[in-house]
Amino acid sequence: MNLQILGTGSALPKEVLTNKQLESIVETTDEWVKERTGIAQRHVSTGETVASLATDAAKKALDAAGKSAEDVELIIVATCSPELALPCVACQVQAEIGASKAVAFDLNAACSGFLFALNTAYSYFSSGLYKNAVIIGAEVLSKIIDWTDRGTCILFGDGAGAVYVEANNELPDNYKFVQYANGSKGMVLTCGLRDLDNPLHKEELMKKYVWMDGREIFQFAVRQVSACIEELLEKANVAKENIDYYVLHQANARIIEGISKRLKEDLSKFPTNVEHVGNMSSAAIPVLLDESIKNGTVKKGQTLVLSGFGAGLTYGASVITL
Ligand code: UT7
Repeated sequence: MNLQILGTGSALPKEVLTNKQLESIVETTDEWVKERTGIAQRHVSTGETVASLATDAAKKALDAAGKSAEDVELIIVATCSPELALPCVACQVQAEIGASKAVAFDLNAACSGFLFALNTAYSYFSSGLYKNAVIIGAEVLSKIIDWTDRGTCILFGDGAGAVYVEANNELPDNYKFVQYANGSKGMVLTCGLRDLDNPLHKEELMKKYVWMDGREIFQFAVRQVSACIEELLEKANVAKENIDYYVLHQANARIIEGISKRLKEDLSKFPTNVEHVGNMSSAAIPVLLDESIKNGTVKKGQTLVLSGFGAGLTYGASVITL
């Protein structure tokens, strides 16, 4: 079965927050943030929501593919920062774009979410249940960031990316994936949601902001992502010389450098956009993919490795020939 990415789209909030502006919010410097992360600025919502950004990105992906929302069979939104617990973002997108025949649901695997959603669509396609889907990664992380914590607030940004994908049984298989979770390490990257508050019991459970052990995640990412890409390529029987680009989760430029070293692959095979968008969790991979296609880096016929890692801990990698 051939997984065809026929259209991509992305949406970023109109306002930008620079490192320079952050200097007046927390004790940090533009130089420190650039040197340790590669990030110079991030887009931050001044009214855009996960649902509005996701809708915008989905419409662009459908337009790029030349497809009508009425024919969409499946919508999955990967997000860890929805505004509403109910209804899910995917159902809001469904209503906004008029995809009345689609089944729609959200999936939360943090920064691996988009990849896990794509794997879910591929698995549905393989079973014959659906033959097309809009897969979206969308986040407004700025509302769950502790803007007094310089260790985290410098990293994250808001945005959404989407792909329109179709199954084609006439063409050869072009997609393989590996995906993992390690819940026993889950408490290194957390964010509380609601406290216990019922007639019998009230208890504050956890801080309502993102908290992380940055160094631990850094090491986990460099080690596990490179190992799982090696495993994927062996499983798929694809040599590294045949990989055109590695489209990785954009968390930190130094993590990407570390992965490229471990894989012994030239850094020029790793497109990045972290400098101008920061870490957008589940939106990172589809936004980078969209930008790389639009600027002519990524083209039809090329073979890409997509790889994500994040809270859970979750991680995975996929190889696709476009
Ligand atoms: O999608 C997954 C989400 N999470 C991640 O990807 C996080 C991965 N981790 C990282 O990107 C890095 O660990 C950080 C960027 C978060 C931190 O960089 P680091 O090189 O690991 O710095 P560190 O935490 O080891 O801190 C070094 C020093 C500390 O000072 P002392 O204790 O050495 O005096 C920090 O207090 O840098 C200090 N520091 C800062 N200084 C200026 C931490 N944050 C800042 C800051 N500005 N924003």
